[in-house]
Amino acid sequence: MDKVIIFDTTLRDGEQAAGAALSVQDKLDIAKQLERLGVDVIEAGFPISSPGDFEAVQLIAREIRKSSVCALAHANTEAIDRAWEAVKKAKRPRIHIFLSASDIHLLYQLKKTREEILEISREMVARAKKYTDDVEFSPMDASRTEPAYIYRIAEAVIKAGATTLNIPDTVGYAMPQEFGDLIEGIFKNVPNIRKAVVSVHCHNDLGLGVANSLEAVQRGARQVECTVNGIGERAGNAAMEEIVMALKTRSDFYHLTTNIDTTQIYKASRLVSELTGFAVQPNKAIIGANAFRHESGIHQDGVIKKAITYEIMDPKSVGVPSSSLVLGKLSGRHAFKERLAELGYIMDEESLKHAFQAFKELADKKREVTDRDIESLIAEELRTVTEVYHLDHVEVSCGNHNIPTATVRLIGPDGQPVADAALGTGPVDAVYEAINRIVKVPNKLTEFTVKSVTEGIDAIGEVLIRIESNGVNYSGRGADTDIIVASAKAYMNALNRLLAVKKVKK
Ligand code: KIV
Ligand code: ZN
Repeated sequence: MDKVIIFDTTLRDGEQAAGAALSVQDKLDIAKQLERLGVDVIEAGFPISSPGDFEAVQLIAREIRKSSVCALAHANTEAIDRAWEAVKKAKRPRIHIFLSASDIHLLYQLKKTREEILEISREMVARAKKYTDDVEFSPMDASRTEPAYIYRIAEAVIKAGATTLNIPDTVGYAMPQEFGDLIEGIFKNVPNIRKAVVSVHCHNDLGLGVANSLEAVQRGARQVECTVNGIGERAGNAAMEEIVMALKTRSDFYHLTTNIDTTQIYKASRLVSELTGFAVQPNKAIIGANAFRHESGIHQDGVIKKAITYEIMDPKSVGVPSSSLVLGKLSGRHAFKERLAELGYIMDEESLKHAFQAFKELADKKREVTDRDIESLIAEELRTVTEVYHLDHVEVSCGNHNIPTATVRLIGPDGQPVADAALGTGPVDAVYEAINRIVKVPNKLTEFTVKSVTEGIDAIGEVLIRIESNGVNYSGRGADTDIIVASAKAYMNALNRLLAVKKVKK
């Protein structure tokens, strides 16, 4: 088999990242982008873990038609039945069962013997198999388990009907060669191994998630579990974009393919970053802001003469919008619409009207509007949040001898304007205080990042924030040439998400 199956677990392991905050609607939006990206399997959630997870998996299972949709389950009957209930309407449903295998976990956590674990694994796979043909099994903490015991588990679960055997490096402990040897050992020592696809799931605690996954692929694994932007438990999972682009860029070395439409990578990365509230570090491979920027004179000279001198990938191949194609204030609606279509955005008339208006306002402030600006601008339009409060006006006074003071006016749920003012330790704090005086929902700001979308003094500033209320996190995003306005928009966006959830829960 010369194809590597891409199993995306952004919505399950990715969402386990501390502070990640995805609503059911966010998860559906991400699942649709994953489908456009061409991932083979979407692990949509862990249905037994919460009603919200159950609902998200059920919705994704109904809506997604091309990718397989997978639900995670502990190795017990209740979790497996719940997983099936959530995923059964999928066109291609998969149940993924996991159970610890290492002596460390057996001794300190599960307090069970190896024989007991073996028996439970076998029985639970057989139970899932009654529901669907597509059953995956993971012996958790496999990289710290005696290989001979992994071989026994593998043989037993495949005999019971598992069609995918996933080998997790749960705590990101393995070294590439050692992990590769484990995979090779499985192929050599498990008699029925050819009846299943061997998969790997590598965490990044030592920064080796991608290296370990690629080594496993070299040794015969044909499914890789990964997440967009590498998000996940603790230091995260192997990054999908890095694995896919390594296989593609070095196809001369691997001779393997994937189903991924790589031009959708950048959009997927942006969406996941915005909806989780996790900013992408500038030097992040493939999708970081600096990934295709050349600073040194020698490098710039080379790239101008022939890109291949210092660029191993074409930025277009991962969907990075160009910063050389520009629109300006004289560009009309038609040109704007065409540019959007070229960037892959098809909008309904109403959204187009708003986006065009926002574009015109931006073009008044900024001489050249690049693809990156347009992309940032319409991200706002595409975020499916119903606004309870709308930001109508924001004004601040600040300076080194002033006490920062903000006045804001919001349009409330009844369509009426409400204004208030507040002092703060800085201009953003003052704006947030003024908004709080109107909206009155207790919350704590836990994350605030600001970055510029393009270079130059007139660049759009993009703010990503996270707030916490009653133990739940909500992300918000705002973009504007004025970073105070962008900060206010981001806060309103997060508050509206919080209020939308409150409304549903009432
Ligand atoms: O890291 C891990 O072991 C997991 C399993 C559920 C596959 O996430
Ligand atoms: Zn994991």
